Amino acid sequence: MLVSKLPNVGTTIFTQMSQLALETGAINLSQGFPDFDGPQALREAVARHVMEGRNQYSPMTGLPILRQQVAAKIARSYGVQRDADSEITITPGATEAIFCAVQALIRPGDEAIVLDPCYDSYEPSVELAGGRCVHVPLALPDFAVDWQRLSDAISPRTRLIFLNSPHNPSGALLTRADLDKLAELIRGRDIHVISDEVYEHLIYDGARHASVLAHDELYQRAFVVSSFGKTYHVTGWKTGYVVAPPALTAELRKIHQYVNFCGVTPLQFALADFMAAHPEHVEELPAFYQAKRDLFCDLLAGSRFTFTRAPGTYFQLADYSAIRPDLDDVAMAEWLTREHGVAAIPVSVFYQSAPEDMRLVRFCFAKREETLRQAAEKLCAV
Ligand SMILES: Cc1ncc(COP(=O)(O)O)c(C=O)c1O
Repeated sequence: MLVSKLPNVGTTIFTQMSQLALETGAINLSQGFPDFDGPQALREAVARHVMEGRNQYSPMTGLPILRQQVAAKIARSYGVQRDADSEITITPGATEAIFCAVQALIRPGDEAIVLDPCYDSYEPSVELAGGRCVHVPLALPDFAVDWQRLSDAISPRTRLIFLNSPHNPSGALLTRADLDKLAELIRGRDIHVISDEVYEHLIYDGARHASVLAHDELYQRAFVVSSFGKTYHVTGWKTGYVVAPPALTAELRKIHQYVNFCGVTPLQFALADFMAAHPEHVEELPAFYQAKRDLFCDLLAGSRFTFTRAPGTYFQLADYSAIRPDLDDVAMAEWLTREHGVAAIPVSVFYQSAPEDMRLVRFCFAKREETLRQAAEKLCAV
C-alpha cells in the first residue's frame, strides 16, 4: 500500500470553491484569476511564435531574451542590476520556482518559518523535502509581522523564512524597515529567505514595493519569485521566474532541470516581445487594478460587510461579523455561494490555526467592471 507523503493534503479550497461556483452558477470571486484576457498583442505573439515553429525545448534556464527583459524590468522598477545569465531563471509558474528553492534549501529535520495566513504551496514543499513548517501568525488587524514572535520562533534548526509581499490573502505590504529588521534578525545565522513577490506590481495609493531584490544584504541569501501570470493577466500560462545570487541560482537550477527542465517556449518568446514593446504595462498596472479595487469597495460600502481597502494584490478581505457571526468562514463562503450567488474564499484555510473569532472572507477583484457590479449588488443584498 502506498503511504501518503502528504497525508493532510486534499483538494484545495480554491478548487472546491471554483467547482461550487460552477455548479451553482455563482459569480466566482474566489480563486485568484482575472475574468478578462491578457493584452491582445501578447496573445497574438504566442500564436505567431507557434506558427513560426518555435515549439521545441527552450534552454533549461529560460530564453536569454526573456531573462534580459526581466533584468531590464528589475532595473527600471528597483534600480538594481541583476544578471540575466547567472541570477535569473524562468520557471513554469512561481509555484515551481518556490518548490525548487525549497528543495535546494531544506534537508530532513530543518525548519522553515511561514507567516500565517500564507499561500498553500509553501508547507507541502517543505514537507516533501523532509522539513517542518513553524507557523508564526501575522498580527491583526493589519497583518503586520510580529517581530517578537518571529524572533522567538527561530531555532538552531531554522533554515528558511518565507516572505510574501504584497500579501495573499490580506493585501498587506512589507516596508523597507521590515526588510531591515529581518536582515538584522538573521544576520550571522544560516537562514535563507524565499520572497514571494508575485503581486509586486499590484500596489496602490502611491505606495512603492519594497522588494528583496533591492535590499542588498537580504538578497545575498534570498530567492525572489515572481509570476508573469499575475503581471500580464495570463495565470493559465503558468510562467514565472526566480532571481537569486549566482551560487543559489546554480543550486536551484540543478533541481529545476529535473522537475520540469524548462518553461513553454512560445510563451517565453511572446512575453519577451511584449515586455520589449510595452514596458509601460507594469507602470500602468497599479492604476488599472486600483480602479477595480475602488469600484468594488465603493459599491461594497453599501453592504453590511466591513473592510479596509487592500493596499496591494487583487484581493479584498471583508469582515462579515455583522451578517452571520454564527457561521465560521468556511460555512460562510459556502452560504454566500449557494444562497447569494457570490463565491469567496475563507481566510482560515491560509492558517495552521486561525483565531476562533475570525470572520473574514477574501474576494478577488481581478474582474471586469460588469462582474464587480453584479457581485456587489448581490453582496449588498446579503
Ligand atoms: C502568493 C502566491 N504565490 C504564488 C502563486 C503562484 O503563482 P503561479 O501561478 O505563477 O505559479 C500565487 C497564485 O495565486 C500566489 O497567490
